[in-house]
Amino acid sequence: MSDAYAVIGNPIIHSKSPLIHTAFSKQTKQKMHYKALFAPLNGFAEAIKVFRKNNGKGMNVTTPFKFDAYKISTQLTEHAEAAQAVNTLLFNSNEIYGHNTDGIGLIRDIVTNLGFAITAKRILICGAGGAASGIILPLLQKNPSTLVISNRTVQKAYKLQDQFSSFNNIIVANDNMDIAKREFDLVINATSTSLIGKSLILPRNIFASGSLAYDLMYSNKQTPFLKFAQKEGAEYLSDGTGMLVEQAAESFFLWRGIRPKTKEIIKNIRNGS
Ligand code: ATR
Repeated sequence: MSDAYAVIGNPIIHSKSPLIHTAFSKQTKQKMHYKALFAPLNGFAEAIKVFRKNNGKGMNVTTPFKFDAYKISTQLTEHAEAAQAVNTLLFNSNEIYGHNTDGIGLIRDIVTNLGFAITAKRILICGAGGAASGIILPLLQKNPSTLVISNRTVQKAYKLQDQFSSFNNIIVANDNMDIAKREFDLVINATSTSLIGKSLILPRNIFASGSLAYDLMYSNKQTPFLKFAQKEGAEYLSDGTGMLVEQAAESFFLWRGIRPKTKEIIKNIRNGS
């Protein structure tokens, strides 16, 4: 029986992960299979148990189970610990390793694929939920000059600032007036607004010359955030397709010890195949 992998979530029907990992396994000639696994909201632990019994070697974890995955992990990587969320599980007979590859995927897309250096840049992260907390540590590890966090519920932004207090370059924006006083080289939409088709309300004139606007959500159509950024003169625009494929590549590497090539697959996903 070949090694089994899956992405688990609720809902799971729209996940691109089976497509991406099947392409990776073909490209690297690995004997494995990968499927989408739906679990009831209270059925995460049971689904994991059954999957492991059936030769399950590893899993990707998506909404709403990233915190459940964090809790069942017996060992956590630095990135999972920092995010307090796990998107990749690796099983062996005694241990459940929990990792978080979201932020690593984002960095690889920005730095390697888009050729945009983060070091010494001024960053704005909009949002302070699960997606935001997963990307903060790897961004800080690239030594930006400042990282401003802005969120509709400002207390959550302060909580993140506390969580990463060993870095002293995190600033919380209390409101849009606070943001309006600054310019940014990299603006990241980590809110769920694009997912629900809403606009994120941001002040004008915040995009510095040569800036990159990055929406963590992947979409075939330009998101309202990216439309706004384009109008405001952001020089580079990106949705989260590259991050999606790169976080998958990092999971694949953890499981199989081989790093798949991503360029072609990003192109295919972007073209809707
Ligand atoms: P995810 O795992 O996708 O990050 P989440 O943890 O529920 O999901 O976080 C959603 C983020 O989007 C939060 O930062 C949320 O702001 P609040 O903390 O104030 O709820 C933000 N968000 C959702 N809808 C928004 C809207 N209409 N305008 C601005 N921010 C919004």
